[in-house]
Parts: sequence; structure tokens; C-alpha cells
Amino acid sequence: MILDYNDLISTQTFTILGILTAFYFFQRFASFVWLYYLRPPSLHKFLHGKEPYALITGASDGIGRAVAKELYERGFNLILHGRNETKLKAAIDQIHASGKGPKRDIRFFLASADAADVDFTKIVEQFKDLRITLVINNVGGGRLRAQRIDAFSGEDLLGDIRVNALFSFDLTHALLPQLRAAGGPVEVVFVGSQSADIAIPRLSTYAASKSFLYQLTRCLNADETYGSPSQVRFTYWNVGTVITNSLREKPSLFYPLAADFAKNLMGIIGCGREKVTPYAPHAMQQLLVGLLPKSILLHHATKTIQRIIDETEKRTD
Ligand SMILES: NC(=O)c1ccc[n+]([C@@H]2O[C@H](COP(=O)([O-])OP(=O)(O)OC[C@H]3O[C@@H](n4cnc5c(N)ncnc54)[C@H](OP(=O)(O)O)[C@@H]3O)[C@@H](O)[C@H]2O)c1
Ligand SMILES: *[C@@H]1O[C@H](CO)[C@@H](O)[C@H](O)[C@H]1NC(C)=O
Repeated sequence: MILDYNDLISTQTFTILGILTAFYFFQRFASFVWLYYLRPPSLHKFLHGKEPYALITGASDGIGRAVAKELYERGFNLILHGRNETKLKAAIDQIHASGKGPKRDIRFFLASADAADVDFTKIVEQFKDLRITLVINNVGGGRLRAQRIDAFSGEDLLGDIRVNALFSFDLTHALLPQLRAAGGPVEVVFVGSQSADIAIPRLSTYAASKSFLYQLTRCLNADETYGSPSQVRFTYWNVGTVITNSLREKPSLFYPLAADFAKNLMGIIGCGREKVTPYAPHAMQQLLVGLLPKSILLHHATKTIQRIIDETEKRTD
């Protein structure tokens, strides 16, 4: 049988497409294995100078508290943020008690992240003599709103945006000169959420705030490398579901406890990626979800949201 000209073109085209597709998936797979399983850890890059500090916001509970504990055990002094003094001090006592090796310094500051009148200059002033080499902008929380945005006041909605975006922005803004003067590499993390990558109903203020943090990360990196480059770099963590007090799912591989999540992510700090999923099973989930059609995603997201709204209403009744 003789192929005609058109057949020939399409056969070649498909062969090339096939090779490119295979190459694309191989490249993604190789980069996955490298990032989570082969890359040497780089956290020590931020343990420079005498007494380096890590600053963590929202550190009285959940991911923030767990990350603080891991960093303390790996040699960092800490500056922790919370809003409830009793609870934050209890977390600090716990970290001190669990830490092996020499005791390190743990300081703290209190601020309501949703308040309009936080004095960031004053906050930063009290730590101005400390060498801060790692900042984890972790404070945040997704407040699922059972109604559309026009059912709430602007001030109420702005509270969500302050907690999830503006507090991290203002704190970073106030800290920057000090970070540039740390005399070595500094990493500033913005804790984001995979819910910013899909459109989930009733979660707009939260998801949009996280998207703000991602674009902020990209632009601030460009800022710090443009002109006379500094050693401050920014990274956005694309976080999937983690079991904390506010989430009552059963722990599993895809739903890790905050403590396991924090242990796992120590390996990716300093990896140099601008947007990174800090926990390998979440990255696998996100890859698969990315292959699904949008309509299926939205259907699934809507059902999940409805279930959470129903459960929340039952609990508050
Ligand atoms: N858990 C998840 O599944 C998940 C998924 C994606 C992204 N994330 C992100 O991960 C970060 C941490 O979440 P988490 O699950 O660990 O939350 P969490 O367990 O609720 O802890 C939140 C921390 O932030 C503090 N905080 C909350 N609202 C505050 C406010 N208005 N003012 C001052 N402090 C406030 C809390 O203080 P109190 O102890 O006083 O309440 C606590 O220390 C958030 O940015 C969240 O968006 C979490
Ligand atoms: C502060 O934390 C303590 C200890 O966890 C708790 O008993 C108390 O209710 C909290 N206060 C507020 C205002 O949430």
C-alpha cells in the first residue's frame, strides 16, 4: 500500500507530537524525583552568622507551630507571631521542652492579622538587632462563606484579605531593609494554597488573597534581582490539605498531619523555585487534578463546599 502525501504528513506530525509529549512528561517526572527525593537539603544555607533567626507568623497552631518546632530543632532561633498570648506561650514552652541540644532563643509578638491598625514599624523595631534569615508568612485561614460576597460588609470581607494577604505584605514591607542587611542568603516564604489554582465557590476572598501572594512573590524576586541584586529571595508554597484543628478529616498520605507535613517540607526550603508544592503527595494530586476537565473539577469542588457548609452549620447550631 502506498501512503499518499497527506497521510505521510500526519504520520510524521503524530510521531513528533508523541515524542514531544513523552519528553514533556519525562521532564516533569525527572524534576519531581529530583526535587523531593534526590536534591541535597539546603536549609543550612540560612544558618549563617551568629544566631540566625526564623520568623514565623501564625505560629500558635497548625502548620506554623509545626514548622517552628522543626526549624528550632535544626538550629534556628525563633521569632513567633500569634494573637493569643496564652496559647502562643504554651506553644513556645512546648518547643523549648521538645528541643534537643542547646537551648536557643524564642521571642514573640502579638497582633490581630485582621485589624486595620497594626503598627508594623513598631513590631520590626524590637527585632532590629537580630539576624533574620528565614521568614515564613504563614498566618491565614480560609473562611468559607455560605453566601455570596454581597451578603457581607466590605469591612468584614477586607478582614479576610488582611489575614491572608495584607498582613504578610505589610510585615515583609517593614522587614525588607533588615533582611537585605543579614549578610547572607535570606528566604521569605508566602504560604499559599492550591485553592488559588482552581475556582471554588464561596471562597473568593481567600483564594484571591493567595493569588495576590503568588504574584507578589514573582514581582519581588524580579525587584531584588534587578539593579544591584540582593540576597533576599521569595517563594510561594502551594499547600494542599493538611490536618489541623480547623480540619477534621482523617489523616492519610494525601491528608498529612501538620507535624508530618512540616517535617517533610524541611527538604524543600531553599530549593530556589518560585512556586513550590512543599509536600510530594500533594504535588502528585495537583498533577492529576490538572489533567481533569474544568467542568468535573467545578462539580467536585461545589459538592465538597456544600458538604463543609452543611457540617459547619450543624456544628454552630
Ligand atoms: N490546613 C490546610 O489544609 C491548608 C491548606 C492550604 C493552605 N493552608 C494555609 O496554611 C496556613 C496555616 O494554616 P493552618 O491550617 O495551620 O491554620 P490554623 O491551624 O488555623 O492556624 C492558623 C494560625 O494563624 C493564627 N491566626 C489565624 N487568624 C489570625 C488572625 N486574624 N490574627 C492573628 N493570628 C491569626 C492562628 O492563631 P490562633 O491559634 O490564635 O487561632 C494560628 O496560629 C494558612 O495561611 C492557610 O491558608 C492551610
Ligand atoms: C487563648 O488560648 C487559650 C489556651 O489555648 C484558650 O483557653 C482561650 O480561650 C484563648 N482565648 C481566646 C480569646 O481565644
